[in-house]
Amino acid sequence: MNQTKQWKELNKHSVQMADVHLRQLFEDDSDRFNKYSFSLDGLLFDYSKNRVDDKTIGLLSDLAQAAGVEAWREKMFSGERINTTESRAVLHTALRNRDNSPVMVGSQDIMPDVRRVLDQMRALSVSIRGGIWKGITGEAITDIINIGIGGSDLGPSMACQALKAHGKPGLNCHFVSNADATQLAGVLKTLNPETTLIIVTSKTFTTQETMLNASVAKAWLVALLGDEAVAKHMVAVSADKQKVKEFGIDSLNMFEMWDWVGGRYSVWSAVGLPLAILIGMEKFEDFLAGAYAMDQHFRSAPLENNMPVLLALLDVWNSNFLGGRTLAVLPYSQALEQFPAYLQQLVMESNGKSVGRDGKTVEVDTSSVIFGKPGTNGQHAFMQAFHQGCRIIPTDFIVVGDSPVDFPNHHHVMIANAIAQSEALMRGKTEAEARADLEADGLSSAIIEKLLPHKVFPGNRPSNTLFMDKLDPHTLGMLIALYEHKTFVQGIIWGINSFDQWGVELGKQLAGNVLPQIAAGSEATSHDSSTNGLINHFNSLSREEP
Ligand code: F6P
Repeated sequence: MNQTKQWKELNKHSVQMADVHLRQLFEDDSDRFNKYSFSLDGLLFDYSKNRVDDKTIGLLSDLAQAAGVEAWREKMFSGERINTTESRAVLHTALRNRDNSPVMVGSQDIMPDVRRVLDQMRALSVSIRGGIWKGITGEAITDIINIGIGGSDLGPSMACQALKAHGKPGLNCHFVSNADATQLAGVLKTLNPETTLIIVTSKTFTTQETMLNASVAKAWLVALLGDEAVAKHMVAVSADKQKVKEFGIDSLNMFEMWDWVGGRYSVWSAVGLPLAILIGMEKFEDFLAGAYAMDQHFRSAPLENNMPVLLALLDVWNSNFLGGRTLAVLPYSQALEQFPAYLQQLVMESNGKSVGRDGKTVEVDTSSVIFGKPGTNGQHAFMQAFHQGCRIIPTDFIVVGDSPVDFPNHHHVMIANAIAQSEALMRGKTEAEARADLEADGLSSAIIEKLLPHKVFPGNRPSNTLFMDKLDPHTLGMLIALYEHKTFVQGIIWGINSFDQWGVELGKQLAGNVLPQIAAGSEATSHDSSTNGLINHFNSLSREEP
């Protein structure tokens, strides 16, 4: 694709833009913010602090057009099997479809199934929140443990934390994902099984970590409350009825998902059950409606005014043409603490590929490395490198206009810092400005000369700001759907399938070879010397039998 006319034009243009400074662009055009920002349902997207002009946006839109973004978008929404390596449709959008239109997979309308599971979720949510669902000893449920990993953990965990302020007081959600037993043990230790509901979430119901944690959690329940407790204290979310049954969970307590929902796109399905219970079904439907609003916008807005398309194109511009290799996502909101981790799976599992849909090696860089943590913490940890490091680190600031806590000073400090960081990255500080500051501090000229180079900030570092007027189910739904579609658009531009994840398989397969040697404590000789050495080192440690 780097040989296409559009890619070459962008390459040429990036050379012209190399000497352009963002500070200059803002000085030249006082209307720049209005020109390069717009809002949708309480979500403001400001992309003016990118090194772009009208020509850049035009060329990037041409690139999207030539890549066939519009046609692929339609293929996705209309249920074509665009996940070609698994021969599956990609229909997370059907899970939040708020109109009555059918969505077809082959000859089947899947909307009745979607509505049936939503009704089932509603029934459980109402019953638990209302104290109608009783545990085996007649107690109401106060705690929910979600056992799952990857997409069966990150989405609901992130969303439950983000919307905790909208949740039912006294109802607590816990998430257990890791093969490190300290996580499960730590949660079980604090809970009373009589008031606990365990949700085992796994699309395949074969994932090693999940099945391990689910078996131990079931044993805990049975040991304390007897076999009958499983029916009252364990439910499952899965696409595999048979495996759920074999595990010992009744089909009546199973919430179905389907092969056309990818794990990392599944928070809208019954995978979102902990959230639906925590915030109630009405608010869960607001969450779906937020995503649906973004779907509608994505499906209909022209490419150059389309939020997910622009977000994708700007990331392509910054990474493929201006040399960025990472993307920092910094939510200035403690409630969105887990959002960067959620995005890591969404983006890197989707687009961390080097082979195209045509089976050939992709000629350009694909997914950036995503990282981030909430502001203002990041400012006191890694952001030095954003301001003065050698690498350009494009950044998405996510700012939230309201706060669930009534400490206005805190909130003003958060907002001020978020906005100031993007200003600092954009403007930088020139040598003359740095000198003036040092002189104002009354320093001697010898000290000024010594310090001066360290006090200069190059600036010209691109960022987007996504400003959510408030953090509620609707805007969170919009935000997640925005990044989902952004990820999809980038996959189209790079010519890759964003919906498979073969790259996670090899490690799983090899762990299957290593585990018996670890479990038996036998000497390993069949691997390379490092792998043998590490296994044998572990086996030489004295350990207690499980
Ligand atoms: O190993 C990767 C993966 O398949 C993810 O794509 C998925 O979200 C996660 O594992 C969990 O899978 P499951 O829901 O089948 O347990």
